[in-house]
Amino acid sequence: MGPWWALWLILTLPQILESQTPTTPQGFPQLTNFESDQFQGEWFVLGLAGNTYKREHRSLLHPYITLFELKNNSHFRVTNSMTRGKRCDTWSYSLIPTTKPGQFTVENKGSRADKEDMQVIETDYIKFSLMLSLRQTSSQTITRVSLLGRNWRLSHQMIDKFICLTRTQNLTKNNFIFPDVTDWLPDPKLC
Ligand SMILES: *[C@@H]1O[C@H](CO)[C@@H](O)[C@H](O)[C@H]1NC(C)=O
Ligand SMILES: *[C@@H]1O[C@H](CO)[C@@H](O)[C@H](O)[C@H]1NC(C)=O
Repeated sequence: MGPWWALWLILTLPQILESQTPTTPQGFPQLTNFESDQFQGEWFVLGLAGNTYKREHRSLLHPYITLFELKNNSHFRVTNSMTRGKRCDTWSYSLIPTTKPGQFTVENKGSRADKEDMQVIETDYIKFSLMLSLRQTSSQTITRVSLLGRNWRLSHQMIDKFICLTRTQNLTKNNFIFPDVTDWLPDPKLC
C-alpha cells in the first residue's frame, strides 16, 4: 500500500464509518433487542413516504404484500408483491443484519446498487412495524419510511406513529404515497 493510499484511508475512513450508522430518530428509542423469528412472515405495507416521492406518484403505487423469510437463522429474504390491474409485480432483496438490533444492509443480487440501510424503528411483531430506509447515492440520501401491518387494517395510533416518524425525517405531506394524510392531525402529545 503506497503512502498516499494510506493517507487517503486515514482521512476518509472515519467519515465513511460515520455515514454508515443511521442514527435513531428523535422520540423513538433505540431497539435493545430484535427477535427475527417473531418478525418473519407476512406483512402488508400500508404506509409509504419518502423524500423523492411526489403527489404525482400516488397513482402508480398502492399498498402491497411483503414477505420476510428468515434464512439460515440470520438474514431475511424479502419478497414484495404489488398487484397493478391484472398484473402482479414482484421484487425481492436480502437484508443482512448489522451488529445493531433491527438494523440491516440491503443486498440486491446481480445489481451493483447504491448502499442502502434499513432499520426497524419500532415494532410489536403482531400488529405493526415502522421501518426507515436510507439509501446513499453519490449526490443525495434517499429516505423512505414505511408502515407495515399484519393485516390490511390501519389504526389511528399506527398512522400517528407513522406521521411522527416521517417528521423526524423532515418529510412533508406531499411526500406521502399512501395513506392520504392531507387532513390528518396526529395527537400532539405523540410528536
Ligand atoms: C449458515 O450459517 C452458518 C453458520 O453461521 C455458516 O457456516 C453457513 O455458511 C451458512 N450457510 C449459508 C447458506 O449461508
Ligand atoms: C431536518 O431539518 C432540521 C432543520 O433544518 C435539521 O437540523 C435536521 O438535521 C434534519 N433532519 C434530517 C433527518 O434530515
